[in-house]
Amino acid sequence: MSTGREGPQAERWLADTRASYDADATGYAEEVRNLLERLPAERDVMALFAERVRALGGGLVADVGCGPGRITAHLRKLGVDAFGIDLSPRMIEVARREHPGLRFEVGSMTRLDLADGSLAALIAWYSIIHVPDDALGAVLAGFHRVLRPGGLLLLGFHVGDTSPPEHQENAESRPESYVRRRRPSEVAAWLDEAGFEVEAHPTLTSAARTLGVLLAHRQGLEDPSS
Ligand SMILES: C[S@@+](CC[C@H](N)C(=O)[O-])C[C@H]1O[C@@H](n2cnc3c(N)ncnc32)[C@H](O)[C@@H]1O
Repeated sequence: MSTGREGPQAERWLADTRASYDADATGYAEEVRNLLERLPAERDVMALFAERVRALGGGLVADVGCGPGRITAHLRKLGVDAFGIDLSPRMIEVARREHPGLRFEVGSMTRLDLADGSLAALIAWYSIIHVPDDALGAVLAGFHRVLRPGGLLLLGFHVGDTSPPEHQENAESRPESYVRRRRPSEVAAWLDEAGFEVEAHPTLTSAARTLGVLLAHRQGLEDPSS
């Protein structure tokens, strides 16, 4: 499938995102360390997700764009067999250091090194915000591929009608990770197209931000009552 940004162009936004998180992985980890403690609604979403994974009979869950691993570790505490994947090698170093014993791997959501149907669930929390619109369809198709039928998908992303202007190249500046804002209904339509059944897309508004949450599952689950 075409991402619409093949070759050097695709490499460019991935390379900029990687370099930006590599540049200050420790600082980012510090910033988000106790975030869940301050955001009870996000904790509730995680608890619901964990409960749904359990109801499916459990299985492997990928935290894609895991950063320093705070969500992976939180899900593990909730009994979920979670592991993390991140584009930034420095971020993965931090995750491994902060959560010894948990599994973290360097990788990109644009090319997941996972077998078809191997996951019970996948979470991408504040990570599709870095994927350009014209690459998102292929990323969601990849999520669909690695989930088993009925497998759950949980997305968290910044909500908005418009994104800030894309970073203009400046030889002096270090690479930036460009953040996109999206309408939940727009993301739901992309998921529908990728073969997911969208269950809910609430918006969580706090003083700090408006978070879009999207819970969906890969179509093809047999009706457990039949
Ligand atoms: C805003 S941080 C969120 C980190 C973590 N999910 C959290 O909530 O603390 C975004 C993360 O997504 C990762 N990321 C961005 N693009 C990615 C890609 N194509 N594949 C995997 N990870 C990616 C970045 O390296 C970064 O660690």
